[in-house]
Amino acid sequence: MNLGVFPLLLALIGGASSTYPDYYDYYDFPQSIYGRSSPNCAPECNCPESYPTAMYCDELKLKSVPMVPPGIKYLYLRNNQIDHIDEKAFENVTDLQWLILDHNLLENSKIKGRVFSKLKQLKKLHINYNNLTESVGPLPKSLVDLQLTHNKISKLGSFDGLVNLTFIHLQHNQLKEDAVSAALKGLKSLEYLDLSFNQITKLPSGLPVSLLTLYLDNNKISNIPDEYFKRFSALQYLRLSHNELADSGVPGNSFNVSSLLELDLSYNKLKSIPTVNENLENYYLEVNELEKFDVKSFCKILGPLSYSKIKHLRLDGNHITQTSLPPDMYECLRVANEITVN
Ligand SMILES: *[C@@H]1O[C@H](CO)[C@@H](O)[C@H](O)[C@H]1NC(C)=O
Ligand SMILES: *[C@@H]1O[C@H](CO)[C@@H](O)[C@H](O)[C@H]1NC(C)=O
Ligand SMILES: *[C@@H]1O[C@H](CO)[C@@H](O)[C@H](O)[C@H]1NC(C)=O
Ligand SMILES: *[C@@H]1O[C@H](CO)[C@@H](O)[C@H](O)[C@H]1NC(C)=O
Repeated sequence: MNLGVFPLLLALIGGASSTYPDYYDYYDFPQSIYGRSSPNCAPECNCPESYPTAMYCDELKLKSVPMVPPGIKYLYLRNNQIDHIDEKAFENVTDLQWLILDHNLLENSKIKGRVFSKLKQLKKLHINYNNLTESVGPLPKSLVDLQLTHNKISKLGSFDGLVNLTFIHLQHNQLKEDAVSAALKGLKSLEYLDLSFNQITKLPSGLPVSLLTLYLDNNKISNIPDEYFKRFSALQYLRLSHNELADSGVPGNSFNVSSLLELDLSYNKLKSIPTVNENLENYYLEVNELEKFDVKSFCKILGPLSYSKIKHLRLDGNHITQTSLPPDMYECLRVANEITVN
């Protein structure tokens, strides 16, 4: 058995601790990775006898993709020094489903030809922590989950025809809004988009309306176009923390979106609480410049059936104190179980 397996197990345990609802990692994968290797395997890698279609080649100081025998469907090549992929690297495994290339030295110019688009069953492609400057492609239409985080990506290629692409992770890159707007338009199945830690100054136009989760935190966004979020009738989780939002850049009903369950506006420059829909459950406003608490931001009218569903509200790191909270607040925030003030 291969020593490279130990760090993998740690990664499996680490991945499972995530608390975010739409985030998934490797834990939907069979975990019995110990034991003798199946004979159908590259000699330097490990293919668990109990799950012989997976080939683990993590942490082997590999400089290129090893020979991949027919029958392998899940290929792990993490933490190596792979700096190129030949056109024929996967010629014997065109039915590969997962290809995990995190923590390598890949650059766009050294990924040859249509190496990915030939993989007609590919569902997951992860190239996190590499040296990419643009997205990779062309990509196969079967793709569901694309992860290209922690690269230096400033350009996105075409994602045309990727009808099943559901998850895109692009955090920690160098993307600006124009690159994003043009590329993602046609993705009809896109539910999860993480664009945090990029260089976005304006909300991108043309994002797919199918989104459930949109992370745009840690960018440089200073305003929300009028009615921008109205189009997203399924949006549940929205993060805009660590941006440059001030009251003047947030039109009155920007966040009054009835599908929204969680809204993170922490670490901005807001002086008043933006109005939200009664259905919102978690609202993060810590570290802004809030001066007053207005119940009308949560409940326009009060009645037996008309109240805010807020459970958690964070207001710490502002100029609001416990004593400045209005006494009638709980008539609106009836089901709140945690309100954090300074
Ligand atoms: C694919 O299989 C053929 C026949 O066994 C072999 O010669 C070739 O080297 C294999 N290609 C790769 C990239 O593993
Ligand atoms: C690739 O990225 C690593 C880490 O970011 C960096 O140290 C290295 O210089 C880069 N290599 C090239 C060829 O850009
Ligand atoms: C998209 O996913 C559906 C459901 O899993 C599948 O039947 C279909 O073949 C996929 N489309 C492509 C182009 O892979
Ligand atoms: C949010 O918008 C709805 C109409 O879509 C309106 O009825 C409601 O009063 C608004 N909520 C607040 C708190 O203003």
